[in-house]
Amino acid sequence: MKITREPKPFAAIETEALVTYIFDDSDGPQGRAAELDKLTGGLLSRLNKSGELTGKSLETTLVHAPSGLKAARLLLVGAGKRDQFNTAALRKVAGVALRYLKTRSVHSFVFAVREGDATEEGAQAIAEGAITADFETDKYKTDKKKDKFIESVAIAGYGDAEKAAGEKGIARGRIIGEAQNFARDLVNEPSNKLTPRILAEKADAMAKEAGLAVEILDEKKIADLKMGALLSVAQGSVEPPRMIVITYTPANAKPGAPVIGLVGKAVTFDTGGISIKPADGMEKMKYDMAGGATMLGIMRALAALKPNVKVICVVPATENMPGGKAQKPGDIQTAMSGKTIEVLNTDAEGRLILADGVHYAKQLGATHLVDSATLTGAIVVALANVNVGVFGSDRTWTDKLLASAKAAGEKMWELPMDDEYREFIKGSFADIQNVGSGKGGGSITGAWFIREFAGDTPWIHLDIAGTAWNDEAKPWLAKGPTGVSLRTLIHLITSF
Ligand code: BES
Ligand code: ZN
Ligand code: ZN
Repeated sequence: MKITREPKPFAAIETEALVTYIFDDSDGPQGRAAELDKLTGGLLSRLNKSGELTGKSLETTLVHAPSGLKAARLLLVGAGKRDQFNTAALRKVAGVALRYLKTRSVHSFVFAVREGDATEEGAQAIAEGAITADFETDKYKTDKKKDKFIESVAIAGYGDAEKAAGEKGIARGRIIGEAQNFARDLVNEPSNKLTPRILAEKADAMAKEAGLAVEILDEKKIADLKMGALLSVAQGSVEPPRMIVITYTPANAKPGAPVIGLVGKAVTFDTGGISIKPADGMEKMKYDMAGGATMLGIMRALAALKPNVKVICVVPATENMPGGKAQKPGDIQTAMSGKTIEVLNTDAEGRLILADGVHYAKQLGATHLVDSATLTGAIVVALANVNVGVFGSDRTWTDKLLASAKAAGEKMWELPMDDEYREFIKGSFADIQNVGSGKGGGSITGAWFIREFAGDTPWIHLDIAGTAWNDEAKPWLAKGPTGVSLRTLIHLITSF
């Protein structure tokens, strides 16, 4: 999909569809909407009076052959209250426009920004919104809707003075939007098409193409390094595990400078192991590698964005299966760090593989850690599919993350990490146990388990179990993988 800047004024734009957005305010068309109203002989005012155009968030109003315009159609998307409008809303509006027009077999459109929105962030949000909205999960359908595609989007409203900002924003938005779709494509793959070995091959190919250093540890190397927690999960499957390590080093890397460690859970399928999950809905557990996919997408983007900080990405990849060699409840494992773990529930496998991932990232030099994982069903109980659960060990580091989430338009909510919760995972027969002892707070005890391996290194854990998968399509995003947490972490890294 092409994304360009359209320098022409509204009246002169020839396109299949001209799109803009309307605010939900009582005082009629303002600014560029007033301009458009005038050009079309009061069309917007009339629609507003008839109640067909309210500006309510994500409402769509389509007019064919609008008089006074060269555009074949005019699409007006509701933007909600003006004082609540921001780049997150703009991203959605662009996504809604794309999906609305795509289903109607329109192939190209011009998206006109409103007064004040012709900024770099604005163009970035529109590009991200359009690219992520264009993603479909029909890869394995043989009857793809061949006439439903968007070939090009042009962004209008950026004059000569805003040209540079617009073009920079489009370029940045493209890198980030495509990285998000790269991650979503991996998450969408079923487990028979994406084993740990295949994931590692795809990561290796991506890193090489992007010019990033990459190392794939196979089962033998994993054993040599004594990654006992990762191996314990993998032992129930005939598919061997992989540890994916990708490094981005900035051109002017200085010794002793901070290094960000990204660790992503990649369980390519989670049956629960011997503590097996119920059959109903188990098919969704192909997305239990979304945290790892997110980190791979981030690395792909960083290679192009070239931030000033070194980033090491560590993705432990395995299946969680109940094979004959599977670990059993009560088994005691020794993690790479030397800590012993009593595995009370083999379905709490994410924290096991992250224990070795986090330890290894530290060993490779990470000074600031973030992990992202579909870790607990409990986070769905706490925050539903609305917010990512945030857990942190360091106020400054966590505040940076929360600020980045806001800037990137991803909803995240911090949960407490009081010492009391740490007691829940104190082991009876080993140093720690992999589930809390029945006192609730399941997402927090999961986080505390990982924190035990982060130690004093500032660390953040993102529980994306509720948010990495859309059970229903949204007007701006297909049903399925969301790629959540990628934009926030890219913002965190590029503003570090
Ligand atoms: N992959 C699951 C978490 C999950 C559950 C993601 C539901 C999405 C939807 C994870 O490995 C898991 O099974 N966690 C257990 C932990 C429990 C045994 C302490 C859970 O949440 O039930
Ligand atoms: Zn599990
Ligand atoms: Zn899992």
